[in-house]
Amino acid sequence: MRSNQKIEICILAAGLGKRMKSDQPKVLQPIAGEPMLEHLLRSARALAPLRIHVVTGKGASQVEALFAAADINFVHQAEQKGTGHAVMQVLPHLGEASRLLILLGDAPLITPRTMQRMVDADCDLGVLTAEVADPHNYGRVIRGSGGELLQIVEERDADEQQQRIGEINTGVMVTDSQSVKQWLDRIDTNNAQQEYLLTDIVDLAVKDGKQVQAIKAIDATEALGVNDFEQLATLEREHQRRLARELMRSGIHLIDPARIDIRGKLTAGAGSRIDVNCVFEGECTIGKNVMIGPNCWIKDTLIDDNAVINPNSVIEGAVIGSDCSIGPFARLRPGARLERDVHIGNFVEVKQSRIGEGTKASHLTYIGDATIGAGVNIGAGTITCNYDGIDKHETHIGDKVFVGSNTALVAPITISDGAWIAAGSTITRDVAPGNLAIARGRQRDIEDWAGPQADGKSGES
Ligand code: UD1
Ligand code: CA
Repeated sequence: MRSNQKIEICILAAGLGKRMKSDQPKVLQPIAGEPMLEHLLRSARALAPLRIHVVTGKGASQVEALFAAADINFVHQAEQKGTGHAVMQVLPHLGEASRLLILLGDAPLITPRTMQRMVDADCDLGVLTAEVADPHNYGRVIRGSGGELLQIVEERDADEQQQRIGEINTGVMVTDSQSVKQWLDRIDTNNAQQEYLLTDIVDLAVKDGKQVQAIKAIDATEALGVNDFEQLATLEREHQRRLARELMRSGIHLIDPARIDIRGKLTAGAGSRIDVNCVFEGECTIGKNVMIGPNCWIKDTLIDDNAVINPNSVIEGAVIGSDCSIGPFARLRPGARLERDVHIGNFVEVKQSRIGEGTKASHLTYIGDATIGAGVNIGAGTITCNYDGIDKHETHIGDKVFVGSNTALVAPITISDGAWIAAGSTITRDVAPGNLAIARGRQRDIEDWAGPQADGKSGES
């Protein structure tokens, strides 16, 4: 960076995003479940700038309400007359001699490292460029015979030869508040888009004999911009690929890094394996040697070492102890806390419940608002009837209880240690330790039952 200039960052986020055909401001479109602008702000803040100016236009009030913060200065651009016009709006807010980094709100994958590289570049104007396979829609970088940057030409103003150039303008520029002002004073709308193009300042700076540099992005994917949903999907995948790469580098086995989605923060211990099509949201922490089968949706959850999450499990707000086995087709809802070696099988739902070590609920069960001890067997089809139509009530089950299949436990209720519940029971009273409770109609056998008769009469008289 030049001398001891303060850094100010300007993010252009006022554009209409016409090509998205959406009512939502473009910068609110999500990458990994977070608005694009959120990604940019996070990276921008890593540079500890004096201030971040965000130019808003379409949906300004929505954007401003979402991102209001002490370090952000929102600048309203009432009419979107181009990227140059957007930066003009910021000029009165800039310090005397600040280093100014300009970012595009619709190009959110630029890393703090690249931003820093720009800010540190020894030049009056630096333009971040990239070599891309498909330069369509981007401004092209025109270099002189010595490779020096001469000009940026927008696609619509480019001739055929210029359109064949594969080096594009990422839109990210670095300059200083004084210089940019002088150049912006001189740009006009004499171009195919009839807008004030920020890119026109390059030509002016060159003609002024200033030091102008094209700084090539090391990773061209940082340059990708979002104008439509196809590009949004491309950026989403690129961002996911980066996250997947980090996970694999930390010793996680991803069966296919192209088929994982992390919308938040996922930390995982070495030796863990994640099969395809898993989606992680919020804050998820996975221990060592955890196996996660395909098609799981996991949000805000902690999974301890050696646990196995079988395919198609839906898990939110849960704490899963070591050696647990979950699913396939299990649903753990917020407040599910499983101690070590708990087995939750298919079509079992657990909500706001504590389940002790070694307890098993292997099939077709609802456990809600319950505390269950260690070594309990919950038979198939067991339901904690926790809701009376108005209030929720709790079920308490001690250690080593055996609950037979198809049992309804009508809460509030306590089943003490070592008790047995016979299959098919509807339990409405507490059961003492070691007792067997049976609460079902007695079986009646009718001898020599003739079965339905052909004349339509029933066999029983
Ligand atoms: C721009 C660049 C192009 C570059 C590309 C990279 C210009 C003239 N062109 O083109 O060289 O290759 O980005 O992705 O700069 N915006 C405003 N106010 C406005 C207009 C735009 O805030 O009046 C904001 C938009 O919200 C957007 C960003 O500026 O976040 C870029 O605008 P956009 O219209 O998408 O420019 P491109 O045509 O993509
Ligand atoms: Ca764009």
